[in-house]
Amino acid sequence: MANPLSNLPQRLLGKTKAIVKLMIRRARQLIQNSRGRYHGLSNEDVISYQAVTSPLTQINLHGRQIVNSMDFLPDKYSLSGSDFMQGPHVDFAKQYVQRGDDPSWDYTQTTYYQLALQGRLPFPIIGECQARMRCQKFIWMIEQLRRHGYQPKTFGAIVVVPTTEGNWMVINGKHRMAAMIALGHTNIDVFIGFDNEVRAQFKQLAESVWPRSTYSRSFEAMESLGKVNREKAGEIQELIQQIKQAKLETWANIYHPLPFYEFGNLTTQVSPDTSYKRLQMILDAADGDVVDKRVLDLGCNLGFYSFSLANRGAKVTSVELRSDYHDISKRIVELYDMNVRFRNDSLTPELVNEVGDVDITLCFSMIQWVIDQQGMDYGKQILKTISERSRLLLFDVSVNHGAACLLCPGGQELVYVYDFLADATTYTDIQCIGQVHPYGNDTRYVFACKHA
Ligand SMILES: C[S@@+](CC[C@H](N)C(=O)[O-])C[C@H]1O[C@@H](n2cnc3c(N)ncnc32)[C@H](O)[C@@H]1O
Repeated sequence: MANPLSNLPQRLLGKTKAIVKLMIRRARQLIQNSRGRYHGLSNEDVISYQAVTSPLTQINLHGRQIVNSMDFLPDKYSLSGSDFMQGPHVDFAKQYVQRGDDPSWDYTQTTYYQLALQGRLPFPIIGECQARMRCQKFIWMIEQLRRHGYQPKTFGAIVVVPTTEGNWMVINGKHRMAAMIALGHTNIDVFIGFDNEVRAQFKQLAESVWPRSTYSRSFEAMESLGKVNREKAGEIQELIQQIKQAKLETWANIYHPLPFYEFGNLTTQVSPDTSYKRLQMILDAADGDVVDKRVLDLGCNLGFYSFSLANRGAKVTSVELRSDYHDISKRIVELYDMNVRFRNDSLTPELVNEVGDVDITLCFSMIQWVIDQQGMDYGKQILKTISERSRLLLFDVSVNHGAACLLCPGGQELVYVYDFLADATTYTDIQCIGQVHPYGNDTRYVFACKHA
């Protein structure tokens, strides 16, 4: 029998190394706090509002207070949650519009420039050269808007998100928003973002800052995001209690997130990153615009994708075998007045034909269940029918991992899924567009399939 003490020195060394690493990281974070510099928001692998173009809603800039979004700067430098109209962006834009041609106006005297110089704007900029460049680009943008107008459909929209206090928080396009204000616009077309998606965008950054107490303004701002359904508050709380008691999943309240403010605290079986990452893949594959697109969501579970796409103007039909999931989704449709048609059915080729021609079909982590229930040929028949009915299929399946997974020689998982789709469907353009790890230690390759 191996002596349990024989690898003790190695384990001790490993632990000491980990502690030293953590101490170095913490020391760096403390230095960063004292300098008060912006950390940066990574837009990889999360839902992104960088270039969102639809659906647009007109808002009145004087209708509600506009507040700054989370910057995760230490509290003494943070603008998070503060009045956007009184902030450095609007101040700079107004000064430029009023005095830009006056030789006595010096943009380096503005608060905006000073903050940029110190790296305290929510941009990865620091130092004189970059601060000057930032101001010059800001002036360029103001001139573009003055000369050609704001073109959200072409270059991306300003994004605001409602807060529980009834304000709009500017998440994307602060410079465009400030320029529009300075140029005297009062009504502007914006994309109204969703609090759950913004939290997912900021999750990594929020988890990386330390100590948390130094960033309370950003955390408060993040917590303030959300559109509250006051009218149905009691019934919603009842449904949440029912969900908790129903024990739908083995180790969490629900399988995937429910994209409504009131449901934000429910725990999910799969890592929520998976859902947001797939959602971004769907939006990218649809060129960012799903308004009026017909979507079929197969094995929709509680409807994360269905609701997220319906919120963007898609016309969604969703199919789910389990009646307990279906009943919850139907209740949510009533409570939030959503436009999703949920069907409590088992997936069949006839059902796909009955729904008819659609623009997008989602088939995530579900065909392995159909194959488990009805056999491989049946699963392939469904996929063939989908390819005859749907312009675009977004697909993944579990292979060699988890219950009811498909099996192939180890290492060939990605090749196997490609060959499976090429064999089962009539699609001629089959692309792997990314991967997700629903349980952390597994990989599902996501494919977008089209007719070339
Ligand atoms: C692993 S979950 C995936 C849920 C969702 N597509 C996602 O990726 O977040 C599979 C879902 O398919 C449903 N399902 C299983 N067999 C089905 C069938 N024959 N017809 C319709 N739905 C089915 C399950 O009840 C479950 O909600």
